[in-house]
Amino acid sequence: MRHPIRLALATILVVAACGGGAEQSSDATAAGATVAAVDPATLDPATITPQELALGDSLYHGLIGATSCQACHGPDGKGGTVAPDLTDSTWLHSDGSYGAIYKQIETGVMQPKQYLGVMPPFGGAPLTPEKHRAVAAYVYSLAHPVKK
Ligand code: HEC
Repeated sequence: MRHPIRLALATILVVAACGGGAEQSSDATAAGATVAAVDPATLDPATITPQELALGDSLYHGLIGATSCQACHGPDGKGGTVAPDLTDSTWLHSDGSYGAIYKQIETGVMQPKQYLGVMPPFGGAPLTPEKHRAVAAYVYSLAHPVKK
């Protein structure tokens, strides 16, 4: 049964490629749905699992999905010419908590404080609640000790 798997993979690739465009209204709807799915205030770093960190790592580095955080924040999260360091204890937009990072990823940054460009919501393409939480967990783990 190898053929159906290949077909599914091809479908995923096509969807990912189309998702790169971002600003369609269907994306906005998907992003809205994500808001309702998880209340950031209830996110507890103690619940972060190794599986979640691995998924977040892949998402951050653009290995799956249409968004690559590393494109702006750098492969090690230490920032670059267009986006800030996510590994230090300085947070420009929040207290750097798990929930705050989760929220930040969703809203993006329309009014940057130090850099010239903006960060689009979800870095460009909406994420499912599961992936949204995973990438937030990964970013949280860059600057905070997390049990792995
Ligand atoms: C197009 C470039 C770009 C992409 C892609 C991008 N960001 Fe950002 N990000 C920025 C900019 C610009 C800022 C705000 C800088 C400022 O305020 O001067 C920012 C800020 C942040 C902050 C807040 C940092 C702080 O100090 O408070 C977090 C957290 C963050 N990004 C996470 C992510 C994650 C996770 C992804 C991938 C899902 C991502 N970013 C994708 C450009 C980007």
